[in-house]
Amino acid sequence: MDSIVVTGGNRLNGTIRISGAKNAALPLMIASLLTSESLVLQNVPHLADVESLIRILTNHGVDYRVEGKRKDHNGQMGRNISFRAGEIVDTTAPYDLVSRMRASFWVIGPLLARMHKAKVSLPGGCAIGTRPVDLFIDSLQALGATMTIENGYVIAEAPGGLKGATFRFPKVSVGATHVAMMAATLASGRTVLENAAREPEVVDLANCLIAMGARISGHGTSSITIDGVEALHGATHTVLPDRIETGTYAMAVAMTGGDVLLEGASAPLLQKALDVLVEAGVGVEETNEGIRITRNGGALKPVNVITEPFPGFPTDLQAQFMALMTMAEGTSRITETIFENRFMHVQELARLGANISLDGQTAIVKGVRQLKGAPVMATDLRASVSLVIAGLVAEGQTTVNRVYHLDRGFEHLEQKLSGCGAIVERVSS
Ligand code: UD1
Repeated sequence: MDSIVVTGGNRLNGTIRISGAKNAALPLMIASLLTSESLVLQNVPHLADVESLIRILTNHGVDYRVEGKRKDHNGQMGRNISFRAGEIVDTTAPYDLVSRMRASFWVIGPLLARMHKAKVSLPGGCAIGTRPVDLFIDSLQALGATMTIENGYVIAEAPGGLKGATFRFPKVSVGATHVAMMAATLASGRTVLENAAREPEVVDLANCLIAMGARISGHGTSSITIDGVEALHGATHTVLPDRIETGTYAMAVAMTGGDVLLEGASAPLLQKALDVLVEAGVGVEETNEGIRITRNGGALKPVNVITEPFPGFPTDLQAQFMALMTMAEGTSRITETIFENRFMHVQELARLGANISLDGQTAIVKGVRQLKGAPVMATDLRASVSLVIAGLVAEGQTTVNRVYHLDRGFEHLEQKLSGCGAIVERVSS
């Protein structure tokens, strides 16, 4: 199994090209199930999760073709891929495929909308909490589907097709919003989704669905209206830049000091996180090319954060920000409100010498002068990268084990960091 060995001490200087967003690419790929025509997605990141989803989609009958590559100055690629679900040959998504990645469960929406039935295994994914599926079941039921759970599978049926309805999510869920919105595009009549997720990836999916002929308004607000249509058609859509990757590298530069242009990044997608970095004493400048992050010698100030649905501070940057705060001059409090079990990086950061204690859903981080390299174990995708960030400033070598999590969500991580002066290498064992 591969590990990543980081030798701490170097500042980061240069340019990092930001990839297409994983969390947008996955639902966009799933949207291809809604039409028999081709959906061409541009700037799809090359990630293990994308490959897993391709396997699931081909199992349903989707043909795909890699249409071209975008080569940037670092030799990194974002692919253009065309997906065509000419005929859905199988409406079952089996356990061995779905258990690897939670987002694959989302095929239930388009399959149900187009084929009027779907049988999808209960999902897997990062171990960051119980992550139930009640919101998916309740919202699809509101659209007229019969939902049952049998032998680990969710079975959804709507023999006469889905019917538009008003549904209020009792809790904000990105995935359930994606699924209900996709399902409603082919339902008869009007659907109104209240307390919907406002994340940029929901907006990106809505824009793509509109390009495919869907009638959607209100995306980006907490009330989304969808007027069902008979059928959707093909389209071409470019995946938006990855705000979590952007924030991760911004925190890495904040940690090491230096001057890095995050090329292609878009500040409004992560304004709250950028504001927090400014509060911590980091330079953040929007340019025509992207976002420039600088820190030259100044101390890191402690900042308290609470994770919240968009536009609040994203839970997917919580671990990386905690890594940063381990070196702040003072004490910060980081409260996790989205997932109940997302502090598994705490004990690993402690192995590097961080001083963190937990009080319920709040981590109290007392800044230390120096972290020291150690072997650590990645437990989920974002936790893994927080350990890499900490390793960039830890004295000596930090070995991050079980890096398959990183490959699920960060395109060319080692190349991007080493291109800016970090000493990061992958070791196979
Ligand atoms: C997506 C992101 C993930 C991010 C999360 C929150 C993708 C592929 N993944 O995950 O990176 O951390 O949003 O921003 O886009 N919940 C229920 N019942 C449900 C569904 C969700 O209780 O049926 C709960 C979850 O357990 C969690 C909260 O709702 O506590 C938010 O989860 P949700 O927004 O659904 O996360 P995902 O869509 O899985």
